[in-house]
Amino acid sequence: MSRFEIVGGKPLRGEIHVSGAKNAALKFIAAALLTDEEVRLRNVPEIEDIKRMIEIIRMLGCTVQHPKPHEYTITASTLKTGALPRELAPKIRASLLLIGPLLVRMGSATLPHPGGCAIGLRPADLFVHGFRKLGAIVEEGVDERTFRTGELRGARFVFPAPSVTATEALMIMAVRTPGRTELVNAAMEPEIPALADFLNQCGTRISGAGTPTITIDGVGRIRGGEVTIMPDRIEAGSFAALAAATGSDLWIRGCNPAHLEVPLLMLEKIGVRFETTSDAIHVVPSGDLQAMNITTHEYPGFPTDLQAPFSVLLTQAKGVSLIHETIFEGRLFYTESLNKMGAKIVLSDQHRAVVEGPTPLRGATLESPDIRAGLALLIAALTANGKSVVGNVYQIDRGYERIEERLRAIGADIKRIE
Ligand code: EPU
Repeated sequence: MSRFEIVGGKPLRGEIHVSGAKNAALKFIAAALLTDEEVRLRNVPEIEDIKRMIEIIRMLGCTVQHPKPHEYTITASTLKTGALPRELAPKIRASLLLIGPLLVRMGSATLPHPGGCAIGLRPADLFVHGFRKLGAIVEEGVDERTFRTGELRGARFVFPAPSVTATEALMIMAVRTPGRTELVNAAMEPEIPALADFLNQCGTRISGAGTPTITIDGVGRIRGGEVTIMPDRIEAGSFAALAAATGSDLWIRGCNPAHLEVPLLMLEKIGVRFETTSDAIHVVPSGDLQAMNITTHEYPGFPTDLQAPFSVLLTQAKGVSLIHETIFEGRLFYTESLNKMGAKIVLSDQHRAVVEGPTPLRGATLESPDIRAGLALLIAALTANGKSVVGNVYQIDRGYERIEERLRAIGADIKRIE
């Protein structure tokens, strides 16, 4: 297993480019299975979760070409099974998005039960209720769940609380379901309207994506198309936290600051100095940083995926910050690693942590628990004086492309040890 060796404690400088968004690209790959025409995706990040998703759709029979880095063409006319691979599918949550296309194209979809997940329980009840509401039959087996077409028809489905992937999965399903579907209290993350815009270019009839009510009129046929994946807002926000924590002068290029309004407001309140253009954030070294309370919330609120990087930043801020993680129940355990580095964080319960700062951090040996906390540990290691070793870097590679090369290019002392 690979690990990163990092010598931190010095400011970084230069420009870093933001990759295409993982949590958009995964959904476009799934949506490509709705049509038997070619779908061309550009600006796809070269990361492990994308490789797994591509392996899965190849195993289902899709023809996938990868003519050059960041570009994929997918043709699903060769689809041959609705059974998702037993080993691979449970490893990425986005495989739930394949149920809809497999149902409408193959008549059934079988999904092995997911294993545990580092960040929380991650139930699938909303998918089951939603697909049933659209007329699918769902059979619960010991090791898997099977969805069959039954009598598909549009319906009104109310989410008890917004869910990103369930919103997308039901939207993808409803585009080929006869009649009108209304998704109420839907998630509003920017990746959702981006997916709807692309599908509409391919002939679907979706309106309201990006608002709490999405209306979808089912169509009989969907064409192929081309799309450039939007920049990863989580990567951009994490790089901003990195720059602020390390007192760096850093241009974060190729991002969309409009997707980061609340995190940028938080940075401002913490005392981070930065400016934005339409596609860049420029962070400059700041004076004293101030403690700030952060509560994670569905978009446009503060994203749970930025909670760990911002908590690292708050270890460098003066005063007491309360971190309230409202979305997942397993997303604060990395704070133990930060304490090993000299942070003063008290975990009140699985949703709340109190950070007292500022605390200088020192190098330590750490394990990356999940994608986002993994990157947060890299940020901590680059902030800390001395040498750190971060293990289990597969978790970081799941979400961030060639991260060590990109960090080295802005002056970080980081190497990958195989
Ligand atoms: N939930 C249910 N039942 C369901 C589905 C979700 O109770 O059937 C609950 C979850 O347990 C959670 C809440 O609903 O408490 C919201 O979760 P959501 O469904 O929105 O999360 P997700 O769609 O599984 C996506 C991202 C996550 C990101 C969250 C929140 C993808 C592939 N994943 O997950 O990204 O944290 O939205 O924004 O889009 C990551 O990239 O590292 C990552 C974890």
